[in-house]
Amino acid sequence: MCGIVGYIGHRQAYPVVLKGLKRLEYRGYDSSGVALIDDGLRVFKKKGKVSELEEATIGQNLSGQIGIGHTRWATHGEPSDRNAHPHVSALGKLAMIHNGIIENYASIKEELQNKGYTFKSDTDTEVLLNFIEDIKENNGCSLEEALRIALKRVVGAYCILLVDCNDPHTLLAARKGSPLVIGIGKGEHFLASDASPIIEYTKEVVYVNDYQIAIVKADELILKNLGNERQTPFITKLDMELAAIEKGGYDHFMLKEIYEQPSTIHDCLRGRLKPDVNQIIMGGVDVNLDQLSKAARIMIVACGTSWHAGLVAEYLIEELCRIPVEVEYASEFRYRNPVINPGDVIIAISQSGETADTLVALENAKEKGAIIFGVVNAVGSSIARLSHAGAYTHSGPEIGVASTKAFTGQLAVLSMMALKIAQAKGTISPERFSHLLQELAAIPAKVAKILEDTTGIEAIAKKYKDARDFLFLGRGYNFPVALEGALKLKEISYIHAEGYPAAEMKHGPIALVDDKLPVLFVATKDRYYDKIVSNVQEIKARKGRVICLATEGDTIIPSMADDVMFVPDADEVLAPMLSVVPLQLLSYYTGLALGLDVDKPRNLAKSVTVE
Ligand code: F6R
Repeated sequence: MCGIVGYIGHRQAYPVVLKGLKRLEYRGYDSSGVALIDDGLRVFKKKGKVSELEEATIGQNLSGQIGIGHTRWATHGEPSDRNAHPHVSALGKLAMIHNGIIENYASIKEELQNKGYTFKSDTDTEVLLNFIEDIKENNGCSLEEALRIALKRVVGAYCILLVDCNDPHTLLAARKGSPLVIGIGKGEHFLASDASPIIEYTKEVVYVNDYQIAIVKADELILKNLGNERQTPFITKLDMELAAIEKGGYDHFMLKEIYEQPSTIHDCLRGRLKPDVNQIIMGGVDVNLDQLSKAARIMIVACGTSWHAGLVAEYLIEELCRIPVEVEYASEFRYRNPVINPGDVIIAISQSGETADTLVALENAKEKGAIIFGVVNAVGSSIARLSHAGAYTHSGPEIGVASTKAFTGQLAVLSMMALKIAQAKGTISPERFSHLLQELAAIPAKVAKILEDTTGIEAIAKKYKDARDFLFLGRGYNFPVALEGALKLKEISYIHAEGYPAAEMKHGPIALVDDKLPVLFVATKDRYYDKIVSNVQEIKARKGRVICLATEGDTIIPSMADDVMFVPDADEVLAPMLSVVPLQLLSYYTGLALGLDVDKPRNLAKSVTVE
């Protein structure tokens, strides 16, 4: 949420910063801006996409070897030129960009207003910037010292980059709760919210920790804590290729990422799932297997699509491992004073590893003695580092704002975990264990089969694109899939969609059914099949428009549906990895048919780093 880029070195900063902003645009795209220092400070800001900023800077003097850039997802103040970052301080000397929220900005603002300050924007960022400048001017201290003093007063989350037009050789950065990566080049440094703007130049990076300040010069990087003590930067090597963050011939990242799923699921299983020797090897699970299998209960904490993966895991772990599971929205879990006892196991699921609600919920739980097990995609992210142990999903960078391949990666990891725990506990028979290993190994090829021909799904999308509402229904393992299908459709097509357990429909939502409402049933062959056939009949009897997702070879469900999509047969506990794929495509093609920007849906941003 909000993308931050900075450069200091021997190159011209503008092209590096602009390219970085384009790579980070998925984090926010309502306005953007850059600040450059050469013979003075120059700032360019524009409401709208980064391409509009680029256009606005044509013909301008863009020189300077130090620069910062920002792409915004509005929190304080509407998207506009004046609320766009970078902000410039009252004396016109400092420029700053910020990702996060300064929660006590109102009281600081009042303090500054009492001193005569006025503000050009509605943002909390401009307040913090003037607060820093005020401290610097009144205390006669360095900018670094003023920053430190100011941050000790700040409540909230931030990643900030700060430059001073009187010091074109230093870029200051600080983080708490919002991510910051620094790329180490030869005589140059690159700063960004994630590694995507950096990998083109260097693979050596430092992940800045909470409460650290970075003093960055072309050939020097100093990290300090808020107590002004130096801390050793820990350099890690990025395991990522440039191709992973480019569209690679697809029209949209979302489509590319849907199509990557056979290989991303395969990558997730590779080296872990060994059906030939009837084994699953997962380092993070293996060393904690005793704790996991003896857990009296497991709590799963996540948001959005990751929360839906958590619901599937609830079914899996309860069924296979016989351990009670609670699946919690991170935002609720955090604030409702949950009962957490030392030794409780929490599985945290997150694609980005930076979701503020999840992160803070976990920090609180960790303080109370819980063991945190992270199922995370982004390597080196805050949640991955906070977890005691974990398993990466290895889905590669997910850039489309709507989560797709991360979901199937999460399901693959969670299935393997459940199987391992069940085996350790003896709650699964050896026959069922080896059957599910074989079934899991077959998933990538089955996903590939779904993707071979998507013309039917595209036609359904075109047919129903003008619907005002949509209902998604499923039972058992397919209930979370129905929720995920509804979420995807809302996000990408702006059609109001609800997901429900199919049986729950008659307790209320059935009142919505008329001859205009499309009702999509996730009705694959499983133990609930006969029940869902009855549910389909109930909708037909009320003249609803029925779309079904059925198992290949089934003839009963297709005979009842107005339209049908198929997936290959699979064991029901693993079927969500297949049934979600046509629903991802349905939302993609619906958004496309409506002429919407499927990679950057309105009001959304990837990596929600504000609470
Ligand atoms: C949905 C979507 C969001 C995220 C949610 C959690 O398509 O992208 O609902 O799933 O914001 O994000 P992570 O998994 O990064 O914690």
